[in-house]
Amino acid sequence: VTMDGTGAHGFGVVDDACVVVDADRIAWLGRRVDAPPLGGVKRVDARGACVMPGLVDCHTHLVFAGERSDEFARRARGETYAQIMAAGGGIRSTMNKVRAASLDALVDDTMTRAHALSRRGVTTVEIKSGYGLDVENELKMLRAARIVGERGPVDVVPTLLAAHAVPPEYDDDDHHDGGGASAWVARIVSDPLPEVAREKLATSCDVFIEQNAFSVDDARTLLRAAQSHGLHARVHAEQLTHQGGAQLAAEVGALSAGHLEFVDDDDIAALAKANVACEVLALAQVFLRGLRAIPGRKLVDAGCVVAGGTDGNPGTAMSSDLPLAAGLAVTQCGLTAEEALRGMTVNAARAVGLDDRGVLAAGKRADLVVLSGASPVDLVYRWSEPLARVVVRAGHVVWEA
Ligand code: NIG
Ligand code: FE
Repeated sequence: VTMDGTGAHGFGVVDDACVVVDADRIAWLGRRVDAPPLGGVKRVDARGACVMPGLVDCHTHLVFAGERSDEFARRARGETYAQIMAAGGGIRSTMNKVRAASLDALVDDTMTRAHALSRRGVTTVEIKSGYGLDVENELKMLRAARIVGERGPVDVVPTLLAAHAVPPEYDDDDHHDGGGASAWVARIVSDPLPEVAREKLATSCDVFIEQNAFSVDDARTLLRAAQSHGLHARVHAEQLTHQGGAQLAAEVGALSAGHLEFVDDDDIAALAKANVACEVLALAQVFLRGLRAIPGRKLVDAGCVVAGGTDGNPGTAMSSDLPLAAGLAVTQCGLTAEEALRGMTVNAARAVGLDDRGVLAAGKRADLVVLSGASPVDLVYRWSEPLARVVVRAGHVVWEA
């Protein structure tokens, strides 16, 4: 299943196929009977099972410390995510743990989660900062993400999300740092943004647009500055309430907008027109017992590029099961099974700004998954079964069941 856009559902199916890999790239792909002479190369026998592109998790907060099971239990008793955040829990609770953690400890914890993703067939993962909320600790998170990409089983696409929450140091005007969300955005723009861009510690800049987080105006200032440094813009938009984040994503030409529970028809039209990749994060919707379903069906029908991710994080999606996220996108958000599968391959690559993966073709990255069955639909149907039998990342086998 090449996902090259041809044939039924754009799956580009080649029967009885052979993929020839040279170093980290696909050198040749086609029917096995047509394959070039292969001599003594190492072979992986798929035994008639499905081979498809390595999965791309286009939206995660995988670098974190600690956990927040207490908040999960509180929500089950009736508190909302917003109430817990307003009471000082939520993102700030993880912030305290991240600030206290060493770089090595963050790398170790994140590496464990990266291996869990890899075993599910993921070969590329986007990772955001956003639990440091001061310059030093935002940089520490991005360095941890980079190290995981260098040493771990997945490629890492790093995103600066310093505008994830207002840091406690910026809570009130009489504190010496003072001045709230706008002041923190001004600080991000002066430092660390230039350093992050210079050292290529991130390729995108994201912002959480929400009540008690960042306004559309603050987000516009930040994203325009990030773009002037050569970073892509990304947005957490309309997750809990309607704030105008989706329209801003369209206005600035963001690479992606995630969540989108509260988008309206005008927003959807704007996202489609501006070609913003829409991230359906169904695990977070369900984990938070969200009051609205992400309108995946409407997004696809309006012509949006629709991707799916885990949103893996301790507060709203404590899971690294990307195929389950895709299964939930089908049953909760109205995607077809085939759309959900494109959403974690070709469209997810689009959502992280990479055109060399998510598709199998000569010249593309040799990121492949061999499933344990013949149909890729099993990935969204057999919930939480480990279906990735062999995972190849950049030409190397990184996981074999
Ligand atoms: O994508 N919505 C904001 N950010 C995260 C949650 C972060 C957290 O609660 O720790 C999300 O769902
Ligand atoms: Fe998120």
